[in-house]
Amino acid sequence: MGSATAATHIEGGEQSHNWYRWSELGNIRDGSHCKVACDHINRIQSDVKLLEKINTETYRMGVEWSRIEPEEGKFCKKGIEVYRKEIKLLVARGIRPCVTLWHFSNPLWLEDNGGWTNPKVVQRYLKFVHFVVDQLGDLVQDWVTINEPNVYLLFGYFEGRWPPGKRGQLISYLKGATHFAHAHILAYDQIHQQLKEKGQKDVNVGAAHHLRIFDHFDKRKLTRIAASLSKWLFQRIYLEAMTHGRFVFPLFAHHIKLKPRNYADFIGINYYSRDMVKGVYNPATMFNELSVKKGKAVNDLGWEIYPKGLYRITKEVYTQFKIPIWITENGICDAEDTQRAKFIYDHLKAVRRSIKKGVDIRRYYHWSTMDNFEWAEGTSARFGLYHNNYETQKRTLRKSGKFYAEICKKKKVSKKMIDEFLSKDADMD
Ligand code: BGC
Repeated sequence: MGSATAATHIEGGEQSHNWYRWSELGNIRDGSHCKVACDHINRIQSDVKLLEKINTETYRMGVEWSRIEPEEGKFCKKGIEVYRKEIKLLVARGIRPCVTLWHFSNPLWLEDNGGWTNPKVVQRYLKFVHFVVDQLGDLVQDWVTINEPNVYLLFGYFEGRWPPGKRGQLISYLKGATHFAHAHILAYDQIHQQLKEKGQKDVNVGAAHHLRIFDHFDKRKLTRIAASLSKWLFQRIYLEAMTHGRFVFPLFAHHIKLKPRNYADFIGINYYSRDMVKGVYNPATMFNELSVKKGKAVNDLGWEIYPKGLYRITKEVYTQFKIPIWITENGICDAEDTQRAKFIYDHLKAVRRSIKKGVDIRRYYHWSTMDNFEWAEGTSARFGLYHNNYETQKRTLRKSGKFYAEICKKKKVSKKMIDEFLSKDADMD
């Protein structure tokens, strides 16, 4: 069990990427900025201690591409050294690092050359990955190639609320999806090859997919079709391509010739919520209008809290792909910390239920270790096990964080823990 962050969320200090520019342009809802974020870049040592304190066995972290390759083809030794030091600290404390190679952030030289819609991105990404794996591969066995291409493309090319701020561009969405999948597949083989040469054992390479539940809002046939369409375009096309190399309609990838086999050692699932899909055309949300089921509990951002969805998703994905599952993210935006402990408990119960049904779930990473820069929502959206005071950068473990730390240590939830951290009437099954 572990916790997760990513570079742009916490590091600060790096200016030559798309999110710095997007913040500078005043696009962050609460007016905050990623330029300092959690100032992690200057607090690596103490932040690693925070992980130790919550008993994480493994930590999913990111690397900032622009810090490592500030200009195309020019790799910065100083930039990669930061991560090497951090990973050494983790390893020394017995925390297994899992490194995400791309998590929504592009160097400006890439962004201004068409980003992920330009086919050249595949080779550009592979060169970057080659350098990182070469520099860190002796210390790292677990790699997430790409994080949530679907969310990035939806927000950046459909809804326009993320960089590059485009709207309704279906062709760019599909081109981007193709390039992400192709990049992942080639990186999968490349990383294995490099690590084999380094003599590294027990290597795991996979992608992290944002998977939601899409249920139909009413029983009309049109609504059911709309829900299936959302699921297909938002998740299925990625899962098929990035896991088995099958580029299904409407991905166009005639030029990509691949042997049908597995291109993932695990399927990373980032699970947060469910959407009720209405059969109503709305170009801003992948053709269909979404809503939250009436009367259901929601987090601070209005997302339904739906633990059963984690059971449903893991079971469905495992049945279809038969590849081990890692929950690479699961968490809640809850500034007051009134819902997080129960959220953790209920979602872990969903994981246990799935495992009992034979689903091979091997990891659970809670999102996130600490409050951080939550993309277009800014720093006021709080997902952390640790509260962060952005003025002093003081991190304080929340009550729910203590609960999670105990679960990580004991691998169970005792009656005493229920009494201490959850309401008395929580059921103990
Ligand atoms: C992303 C994270 C993000 C989290 C909460 C996931 O979609 O991978 O970067 O912070 O959701 O919104």
